[in-house]
Amino acid sequence: MIGYQAENHLFTLHTRSSSYQFMVDPSGYLLHTYYGPRVGGGSFAYRLRQADRGFSPNPNSEGHTRTFSLDTQPQEYPSSGVGDFRIPVLEVENADGSRAADLRYQSHVIRSGKYALPGLPAFFAQEEDAQTLEITLEDPVTGLRAVLYYGVIESRDMITRAVRIENAGDKPVALTRVMSLCLDLHQGDLDLITFDGRHTGERHPHRRRLAPGIQMVSSTRGATSHQHNNFIMLCAPDAGETHGWCLGAALVYSGNFEAAVERTQFDTARMTLGISPWQFRFTLAPGETFTAPEAVMIFSREGFSGMTHQFHRAIRDNLCRGEWAHRRRPVLLNTWEAAYFDFNSEKLLEIARCAAETGVELLVMDDGWFGTRNDDRGGLGDWFVNEQKLPGGLAPLVHAVNELGLDFGLWIEPEMVSEDSRLFAEHPDWALRIPGRPATRGRSQLVLDFSRTEVWQYVYAQIKKVLSSANITYVKWDMNRSLTDVLSAALPAERQGEVYHRFVLGVYAMLEQFRKDFPHILLEGCCGGGGRFDCGMLYYTPQIWASDNTDAMDRLLIQYGTSFCYPVSVAGSHVSAVPNEQTGRVTGLDTRAAVAMAGTFGYELDPRSLSVAERQQMRLEIDRFRHLYDLIQYGDYDRLTDPFAPGPFTAWQQTAPDGSAALVTVVTGMARSNDAFATVYPRNLLPDALYSVNGADAVRGDVLMYGGIPLPHVGGDYRAMQFELTRKG
Ligand code: DGJ
Repeated sequence: MIGYQAENHLFTLHTRSSSYQFMVDPSGYLLHTYYGPRVGGGSFAYRLRQADRGFSPNPNSEGHTRTFSLDTQPQEYPSSGVGDFRIPVLEVENADGSRAADLRYQSHVIRSGKYALPGLPAFFAQEEDAQTLEITLEDPVTGLRAVLYYGVIESRDMITRAVRIENAGDKPVALTRVMSLCLDLHQGDLDLITFDGRHTGERHPHRRRLAPGIQMVSSTRGATSHQHNNFIMLCAPDAGETHGWCLGAALVYSGNFEAAVERTQFDTARMTLGISPWQFRFTLAPGETFTAPEAVMIFSREGFSGMTHQFHRAIRDNLCRGEWAHRRRPVLLNTWEAAYFDFNSEKLLEIARCAAETGVELLVMDDGWFGTRNDDRGGLGDWFVNEQKLPGGLAPLVHAVNELGLDFGLWIEPEMVSEDSRLFAEHPDWALRIPGRPATRGRSQLVLDFSRTEVWQYVYAQIKKVLSSANITYVKWDMNRSLTDVLSAALPAERQGEVYHRFVLGVYAMLEQFRKDFPHILLEGCCGGGGRFDCGMLYYTPQIWASDNTDAMDRLLIQYGTSFCYPVSVAGSHVSAVPNEQTGRVTGLDTRAAVAMAGTFGYELDPRSLSVAERQQMRLEIDRFRHLYDLIQYGDYDRLTDPFAPGPFTAWQQTAPDGSAALVTVVTGMARSNDAFATVYPRNLLPDALYSVNGADAVRGDVLMYGGIPLPHVGGDYRAMQFELTRKG
């Protein structure tokens, strides 16, 4: 609910359990007063304190009053170049070369329903479940306008933000920094948690106390990156999984980003989130507009798990779209680690035959089916079937696979081109390149200039032809390098600072076209695993391959970090062969299956290389996954342990929203001789209800939560156990 008190110009945004408040001060500045647990009403304006602070200047509109400074006031969307020296939110270059924008309140509207953003992903809600507040600010000198959007999705505890900048003046203006979100908190003694890593080791959480000054994570790679995720958290220093307050903020975007928090001189904190200003310069001619992507926030007073539950629900119900958002996803077998580039129809059919016997429902033909793609040096961009490998094209193969009772899926990497390809020979200027400078290769490939509509439309037309030629029900959309040599042959020199963002808009436009033309195809995102794992992509692809690392023990760490924001239903996770391709580690098939069940669950191995007993086990595990599907995919997810902390095991839990069932999964580490008794403590059960654990006599929920489940001594390294809790009364 969005409330407005005209007499003191106060806006209060209420979600189910949080409130967010700010006011318009007499000079037209938007001052932030509160973000925290939901309150019944009232004003927090008394928190805005003023003092004459040395070296903090005063706006001219204050006359000679020295106690009001933009440098010290908590603000919603701060002006720049006119007296606020904290991390800037908006930076401009005006036609006269000045770098100032002084934004003052003009007007506002409150309406039902949640705003949408043209060409950009955004959370959505039914008209009656959300409200929008739109506030227009204007610089009285240049006429530059900022329209701030606030969305409230009450039941999800979610507050969303976006900004549209309009050049309402009569001269061009260049935007050099446009953050989507600014949050000025009244306290600075906080912890910041970011999710960082590398290729095959994504989204490991890092928690640190805010130090004075700016701390920041960002991506300048053209995609969200393996190195830092665009979801971050702030929390009270004593907050943990089940206690203390925290807030999470995510950018609904898939390109360069910056997330920064500054602990200020007066011990307040400013958090900003938006497109990275690195190499960003967007020129607006008079009348033109620029829309910054959406950023969303969830506040929880019940620790991290409260925030996680709400993010998971919101991503599943208010971000993922299309029929696959809520439809049961097939158990797939992907050929990448089974065959790499070395396959033909015959081999694929043998794999499919064997997979069908184990209960697999979908065969995914990964990289290597098109053009002259026999290794990763050539062929990208040539989206026609390699008939030497697949005689007669896709149709006969897909038909034969369908006859075996399996659906068929396909890998593509639309944004890329190999120099050794027909596409590159015909359109060398379609790749991002700097004339006169040798091209920088990544995985031996170049990046296509998707900022140009004709480029993505051409690629899309080829892919569309292939997809229309056979019964394809799944597509994996990959992207296997970072952007370099970023120069578009189609834009003048002064507009090259727009290419990174226009590239992302091109990707989104093609994804949207894809969704319209192929609504029945399940799209899975991928970027060398989890290099573009973000809320932006999830608007188009309801699942994303979480990492190229399929090792069960490493996956525990990746999936732990991923789970803070992203639900199980969006995290692609597969059982692969051992010794594992990435780490050389050997783990049991049951352990690999239990870990993959904290994601979308599938296989990435050659079933022909498994023993008969292993194939039987595979069948049992697939059946088990099917039986537990709703609980796993739609249950509330709780992290019961921190796998980065020392301890004998890692555990997590999925609980049916009505408390009727729960699944507790435990994976042990290295075995230790004569070890202590271990116990796992479930959470989130109904205290008075009776639960049977794996079919044993029923026990009260509170007894299980406080007394725990004793773990049997299983012996050996990396052992998995699953405890199915079923309500009996
Ligand atoms: C990177 C992906 O993450 C892998 O799963 C696989 O699809 C390869 N690319 C294929 O080139």
